[in-house]
Amino acid sequence: MKIVQIGVGGFGKNHARILSQLGVLSAVCDADSSRAEEFGTKYSVKHYTSINSLLEAEQFDGAFVCTPTSTHFGIAKTLLQKRKNVFVEKPMTYLSREGEELFELAKKNKVVLTSGYIERFNPAVSLVKEYVKTKRYGELIMLEFHRENRMPLHIKDVGIIYDTSVHDIDTAMWLFDDVPEVIFARSGKLRHDHEDFATIMLGFKENKIAIISSNWITPIRVRRFNAVCSDAIISSDFITQEVKIETHGGTEIPRKNVEEPLLLEIKNFISASEGKEDIRVKPEHAVNTTKIAEAALLSSQKGTPIYLDLK
Ligand SMILES: NC(=O)c1ccc[n+]([C@@H]2O[C@H](COP(=O)([O-])OP(=O)(O)OC[C@H]3O[C@@H](n4cnc5c(N)ncnc54)[C@H](O)[C@@H]3O)[C@@H](O)[C@H]2O)c1
Repeated sequence: MKIVQIGVGGFGKNHARILSQLGVLSAVCDADSSRAEEFGTKYSVKHYTSINSLLEAEQFDGAFVCTPTSTHFGIAKTLLQKRKNVFVEKPMTYLSREGEELFELAKKNKVVLTSGYIERFNPAVSLVKEYVKTKRYGELIMLEFHRENRMPLHIKDVGIIYDTSVHDIDTAMWLFDDVPEVIFARSGKLRHDHEDFATIMLGFKENKIAIISSNWITPIRVRRFNAVCSDAIISSDFITQEVKIETHGGTEIPRKNVEEPLLLEIKNFISASEGKEDIRVKPEHAVNTTKIAEAALLSSQKGTPIYLDLK
């Protein structure tokens, strides 16, 4: 397997580190020549400043795209047309119709396409998913997510819904194993060009619900969720990966199994590209998340719920 890393900025440098550790990193590409050179030199691979020069010079099997959201569609489309397996950071595209186009292209060219919904690889989420699936604590009724952190002003192309809330939109669908029927949201902005606080309500069938609160205002980093089940409340922290279960009989904290979600996510992409396992985040799921983000923005602009017919 030969994998290239496109975008070695704040987050993409983590991909490059892991790909290098796994021995599959074959080149890096970044529009910023000093960053491209820094990481090319660090990992002893060739570096490029444009996708075209990368494609002309390198033979490779797959690519990680970790550039600003507004560039995802153009870069991913070029790579899929060249029959490369493609991992695009979240959100997969800015517009859901662009995501649908990528999905069709990947299907036609029989290559893997996925997006960086990393919480599906968080051991805490995997444990809660197992409990929900086996109904160990009864029926999952409600999910509550809190994702808060004072953010620097460098994200210019999207607001908090597309950048941050999408993680919880995806996790809610993953845990309920379903798509919402209705979306209602409120959002506003205090310090950024786009919305920097938002609360989104996703209504699933049988009145099940996910409430997603995100803001870029709170001075401390909070990333937590609660799963309200018929026989217990399960609380978890995405950062510490701790899970706490409160039942009628008392509180239980299962043994922690801390693993780096990014490593698990990258291994899944490599394995899926080799045809050895299924890709966990299917492109159609990533398109649904973008559709819900679009609906949440629209709902907060109009002040009304938005009904969707997602598959
Ligand atoms: N999964 C996660 O938890 C997570 C966390 C952070 C960021 N992200 C996602 O990763 C992506 C990048 O975020 P970031 O914080 O690393 O941004 P960043 O601005 O720090 O880095 C982006 C890099 O892409 C480069 N770039 C821009 N346009 C390019 C192009 N056309 N070709 C090649 N390189 C180009 C820039 O020079 C920069 O080095 C975003 O989609 C973001 O949503 C995901």
